[in-house]
Amino acid sequence: MILVTGSAGFIGSNFVLDWLAQSDETVINLDKLTYAGNLQNLASLKDDPRHIFVQGDIGDTELLPKLLAQHRPRAVVNFAAESHVDRSIHGPEDFIQTNIVGTFHLLEGVRSYWQSLPSPASGRGVGGEGVTQSDFRFLHVSTDEVYGSLTKDEPAFTETHRYEPNSPYSASKAASDHLVRAYHHTYGLPVLTTNCSNNYGPYHFPEKLIPLMIVNALAGKNLPVYGDGQQIRDWLYVKDHCSAIRCVLDKGKLGEVYNVGGWNEKANLDIVHIVCALLDELRPRPDGKSYREQITFVTDRPGHDRRYAIDARKIERELGWKPVETFETGIRKTVQWYLDNQDWVNNVLSGNYRQWVEKNYAART
Ligand code: NAD
Ligand code: DAU
Repeated sequence: MILVTGSAGFIGSNFVLDWLAQSDETVINLDKLTYAGNLQNLASLKDDPRHIFVQGDIGDTELLPKLLAQHRPRAVVNFAAESHVDRSIHGPEDFIQTNIVGTFHLLEGVRSYWQSLPSPASGRGVGGEGVTQSDFRFLHVSTDEVYGSLTKDEPAFTETHRYEPNSPYSASKAASDHLVRAYHHTYGLPVLTTNCSNNYGPYHFPEKLIPLMIVNALAGKNLPVYGDGQQIRDWLYVKDHCSAIRCVLDKGKLGEVYNVGGWNEKANLDIVHIVCALLDELRPRPDGKSYREQITFVTDRPGHDRRYAIDARKIERELGWKPVETFETGIRKTVQWYLDNQDWVNNVLSGNYRQWVEKNYAART
């Protein structure tokens, strides 16, 4: 049994779907269901006994010890966070609360649970008696944004790059990474940290670049490109991020950090052009013009980082992980997914997924 936080969000829900497609190990899904949490992503698991959903906050100091004591997971994977840089600029407080204070409370709950587990030295917990201290893992999912911004010619971020977060979001994630590290060094908590580049794929909330461009294009709206559109991000298909997390959970060395990325650096404007070209092919505009006509350059994001790039050699060398998708295959799948899942998009845009949650999960939360 594993406990996964934030698994009604974009990456977390992909992770749980992939996990249960490959294993029968039960997942306890702890999610607060903020605006970004959408249980409809996990509709296929509604009656699946291997998925136990609990609505709650990672910072809830009463709920967490109860959940851990009741289910005795062998691992906790922490996706829960406020994740959108623009929102962090306009309202940083939720980011401090969840990403820093929430992670702190989560770590405290996990530490006390882990300390209560049998240690190998006690002689208990061997021979299938349940999870022991040495079996347990806490995996913290973090971001490349903690490393700051690169110039065009600087080498990609390695795990030893200095921390230089520039937005309230990245500063809050950096703080959480430091807490995780400290809990390993101070208390010996068996932690692993992953720092990943920009993800894209199914169930991505349409406030982020790629889904926003797809959704706006189809709705005939402007495609807002910040500044000159030459900022560079390093893109990874979400399923590849999920496989990297499974790999680190399985084989990662305790206390280590693993950068995760797909070697896919692209300028934002190029991304928007690629999305437009795919839509031109798969769902041409009725007037025969290109979706590119909808591109609009808008005021830049304050403090906008110019370039991120992940050096993913360590996870490949030490753990044997490599992404499966190229950007070309991943972005085609993604655009097709949004075309095939217009109901999901409409529900998210209208907020109807809240009613769906109340109807289907009210009795279980
Ligand atoms: P998301 O915003 O789509 O989902 C976040 C989920 O966390 C939501 O389901 C939300 O309800 C839940 N949540 C928020 N606050 C909570 C709290 N206090 N307690 C419990 N649940 C809470 O985010 P995402 O894009 O899926 O990102 C998941 C994680 O991966 C984050 O930690 C993020 O920093 C990290 N990450 C994201 C990317 C990316 O490109 N999206 C890249 C690298 C790392
Ligand atoms: O690098 C990993 C990070 O990637 C994650 O840690 C974050 O959780 C995730 O949200 C993402 O952050 P970004 O800020 O890079 O993602 P976003 O999709 O918001 O923006 C991608 C780029 O596109 C960025 O340079 C800003 C730009 N942009 C974004 C939007 C929403 C636009 O030009 N126009 C837009 O409308």
